[in-house]
Amino acid sequence: MVDAIIWKGSHLELLDQRVLPFEESYVRCHTAQETAHAIRDMVVRGAPAIGVTAAYGIVLALKNDSSESSFLEACEVLGASRPTAVNLFDAIALMRTLLSPFDSGQAAATAEQVAIKYHRDDQNKNREIGRHGAGFLTGQRRVLTHCNTGSLATAGWGTALGIVRQLHAEGRLVEVVADETRPYLQGARLTVWECEKDQIPVKLVTDGMGGYLMTHKMVDCVIVGADRIAANGDAANKIGTFMLALAAKHHGLPFIVAAPTTTIDLNTPDGSKIPIEQRPSSEVTHVRGQTITGKTTEVYNPAFDVTPAALISAIVTENGVHTFPYHFGE
Ligand code: MRU
Repeated sequence: MVDAIIWKGSHLELLDQRVLPFEESYVRCHTAQETAHAIRDMVVRGAPAIGVTAAYGIVLALKNDSSESSFLEACEVLGASRPTAVNLFDAIALMRTLLSPFDSGQAAATAEQVAIKYHRDDQNKNREIGRHGAGFLTGQRRVLTHCNTGSLATAGWGTALGIVRQLHAEGRLVEVVADETRPYLQGARLTVWECEKDQIPVKLVTDGMGGYLMTHKMVDCVIVGADRIAANGDAANKIGTFMLALAAKHHGLPFIVAAPTTTIDLNTPDGSKIPIEQRPSSEVTHVRGQTITGKTTEVYNPAFDVTPAALISAIVTENGVHTFPYHFGE
């Protein structure tokens, strides 16, 4: 398993996911501003991973300047980096709670302990998600997945990919089918790379092939992650997830969302209130710096969509398997 987030005590090292699978290099962050930039620019991505990264960003701010204004500025800068994944705000809220009342003599040391624990807790939660999810799925499995939800997107092991890893460890994974995940290609560039590295049987397909694969029994379930799950179970995840859920429903296949409880947002009653990030149009018009459209082509680039709770067969967290209807807020 790859370490995408490495805390060095004086700085943070992030595996640069922008250049995978061609290059394995790390970006160093020494300040909260550099950390926020790395999150916005997708050096690091995936909801749990950006939560952990933001926690370390706050530690960096306090190591540079232990005043309360430095802390508050770091919370603001990091909170503005990406809007959809609630894990980012969960990490910042936890820091605000545990550093209150603010003591500038202790703040950096306390924040560092909190961040290291938050990092370790996510790893443990992933293992539990893997165990619960694999227990829910009986027999041999051909899993269709979307985006990247593995070690690159979490503190390690993964959420949806954690269930895949667990099935593989139990000898029950026939193969995982990863779709490309346009426009940023997290599936083609990251999920395939991760699986190949760990010798997990993987096949790559394009985003429009999900329905065909289900009709022809080439996959028998869909497992995805989430960036924010509303109190009623509506789940925001990488754009394209909703269409896979519709196709799974049509074919009567289990559609599973795997996420730690830090991804559940009890303050958001339903999916219509989840903020959806709009990314730069260049992510659609260019691939690795090369234009693939005309110069004046207009594009939409919402990074996430919302899958209604009724289309989700199960939401798997570190606490167990929840099934529809979901009542996380009660
Ligand atoms: O834009 P990204 O790559 O950060 O989007 C990531 C996803 O949509 C993942 O599925 C989600 O964060 C879960 S990661 C365990």
